[in-house]
Amino acid sequence: MTQDELKRKTAEAALEYIKGVPIVGVGTGSTVNHFIDFLVDMRSSIDGAVSSSETTTARLKEVGIPVIDLNSVGEIEVYVDGADEVNPLKQMIKGGGGALTREKIVAAASKTFVCIVDASKEVDALGDYPLPIEVIPMARSYVAREMVKMGGRPVWREDYFTDNGNEIIDIHNLDIREPIAMEKTINNIPGVVSVGIFAERPADIVLIGSENGIISK
Ligand code: A5P
Repeated sequence: MTQDELKRKTAEAALEYIKGVPIVGVGTGSTVNHFIDFLVDMRSSIDGAVSSSETTTARLKEVGIPVIDLNSVGEIEVYVDGADEVNPLKQMIKGGGGALTREKIVAAASKTFVCIVDASKEVDALGDYPLPIEVIPMARSYVAREMVKMGGRPVWREDYFTDNGNEIIDIHNLDIREPIAMEKTINNIPGVVSVGIFAERPADIVLIGSENGIISK
């Protein structure tokens, strides 16, 4: 099976978790795009979705799923999203697609986070994947220098702007032995909007698509 086929199978497996859920939180990325395709068949049983990015919003609208403002709902029952890396503690690196801030907000506002990944995203320790950090544009160089002090090698995602009008730096070679502590430290750097470590609020369920089927953790 190709990686994309594995992503699609995993996305399909997530449908099990949204049965009877009126408002679904929807993440961003190629795995989630498959999930949205499957969501179309459940259109009549859901009231709508809370979206984590402009791309996802456009896709949801395209297939006729109402997009609901997070401010007008209470706690979301289930949030379904992909990840760039996930460790055995269900902590993740996210933001490869640049949607980390809104993803983190929707994840925080959700009761259950179902993470859908193909097996290539499973790691023992986070950090091989460059860590995305969304920064206020004027703080970019300052935050980058702070990350160098922490042992990382920052690379500016040039000519890229997030849905919030900010910029992203991707940090290579970072030693993320303690994800929660690292998430807090980076969040405290002035100018950081959010960091792609999702450890304080990890996933609750991880569905991993492998050649041997879907593994649920
Ligand atoms: C988007 O900003 C990311 O957090 C995605 O969730 C992550 O990059 C996974 O994307 P894929 O499903 O495309 O691999």
